[in-house]
Amino acid sequence: MSQSALIDWDLLHARAIEAMRAAYAPYSNFPVGVAGLVNDGRIVSGCNVENAAYGVALCAECGMVSELHRSGGGRLVAVSCVNGNGDPLMPCGRCRQLLWEHGGPGCQVMTAGGVRTMAEVLPDAFGGDDLDDFEATRR
Ligand code: THU
Repeated sequence: MSQSALIDWDLLHARAIEAMRAAYAPYSNFPVGVAGLVNDGRIVSGCNVENAAYGVALCAECGMVSELHRSGGGRLVAVSCVNGNGDPLMPCGRCRQLLWEHGGPGCQVMTAGGVRTMAEVLPDAFGGDDLDDFEATRR
C-alpha cells in the first residue's frame, strides 16, 4: 500500500474546514483553513488571522506550524488547505517554504488537481541543506 493510501484525506479535509471557520479575515473576507497530518498520527491545524496593519496578517499555515511545535513537534506528512468554500487552496509561496521546512520534499499536499508532493509544488527549494553545504565549504 502506498503512503498516500494510508492518509485519511477526508478527515484532513474536514479538519481544514473546521479550522477555516475560525479564521479572522475581516479585511480580505478570504478565510483559509489548513490541517496537517503529523508523522506520529496527530492532526494539527490553523486558520488565517489578519490585522488592521494588512501586511502583518498571519496565513493559516503559520498557525498550523506553530501548533505542530506547541503540541510536540514532528514532521508533516500530508496537508490539506482550503478556501472559504472548502475547496483546495494552494499554499502561498511563503507558506510552501514553511511546509518545506516542516515536511520536506515528500510531504503530500492536496491540490485541485489531486495529491502532489512538496517537491512538485516547490521545485528547486532552498532549505537547511543549502546552509549545511555552504558551511562545509566555508574558508
Ligand atoms: N492566506 C493563507 O492563510 N494561506 C495561504 O497560503 C494563502 C493566503 C490568507 C492570507 C490572507 O489572510 C488571505 O488569505 C488573503 O490573502
